[in-house]
Amino acid sequence: MAGSKSNPVASAVILPGQGPQDRLCRTAGAAAHPGASEPHAAGSVGAYSYGASDWPPRGDYSRAGNDYTCAQNHNAYTAEHHDIYRRLCARQSALLPGRACSAFIDALPQLGASDAIPRFEAINERLFKATGWQLVGVPGLIPEVPFFSLLAARKFPVTDWIRTPAEFDYIVEPDVFHDLFGHVPLLFEQRYADHIQAYGEGALKAHALENASEPVPGAVEMLSRLYWYTIEFGLMRDERAGGQLRAYGAGLLSSPGELAHCVQSPMPQRLPLASTADLLRCMGSSYKIDSFQQQYFVIDSFDTLRSLTEPDFRPLYQSLAADLAH
Ligand SMILES: [Fe+2]
Repeated sequence: MAGSKSNPVASAVILPGQGPQDRLCRTAGAAAHPGASEPHAAGSVGAYSYGASDWPPRGDYSRAGNDYTCAQNHNAYTAEHHDIYRRLCARQSALLPGRACSAFIDALPQLGASDAIPRFEAINERLFKATGWQLVGVPGLIPEVPFFSLLAARKFPVTDWIRTPAEFDYIVEPDVFHDLFGHVPLLFEQRYADHIQAYGEGALKAHALENASEPVPGAVEMLSRLYWYTIEFGLMRDERAGGQLRAYGAGLLSSPGELAHCVQSPMPQRLPLASTADLLRCMGSSYKIDSFQQQYFVIDSFDTLRSLTEPDFRPLYQSLAADLAH
């Protein structure tokens, strides 16, 4: 597997000159995890700078445990940190009507006041009661197996640092704003929350298949494409908005530029994600990481997403692997 040296997301997540955007994703799969395939020296997190290479993930990994989680050091946030968060929330919130899905807009207040970076533990009190999920702090991007394992345990990893003022319009890695604002509100939506857990379980299976005695090559990459086109860049026909196109993917919801582009621009293709054939097309589609998406996949409900991704994916991986081999 490629290490961070060959990982394209490091240099290509954001392109200067494209206008303000924040499209950062802790997606499943090495292709979108800078350093994700860096070997983790067991028991040495404290002394090991995770991802240390020519493009190390940003963050202080000496604070992390063996599962890569760490306490949110809320006292370390400065007035400037809180102000950046407040301004990011204000800008993005103003863009949501007519572009973000109804469930997201309804759940956004669950993050609490937007004038300061919230305490994860305060959100957790509400989140655990709502859907059984919890937020856990992480120092930055983490490898795929720990990431999948957290999702499977209904624990969502949230980066605890925030971008600098110079990065207000774009940033290379997910920060606390992307992770909280983009991902967390829909964890209050039961069907979607269940889907994310199932995704984590499925991704662990995919990883095991890749490493089985008769390996299924590319399974994690195929599943990472599904993550990309749904959890990060997914669109839906929002029944509560009269069937209008709305964003539910975190990469869109936290991006001022692409949030408008994804629902309003005539340029991108918008393909249905409603059948197994659509699923195969999605998992067989490589994605753009250096510009706005040229294609989006559109669900008609979170129920559809959940039921579509419920079956065993092994036959799908095998089918795609066979296609890719020819
Ligand atoms: Fe993300």
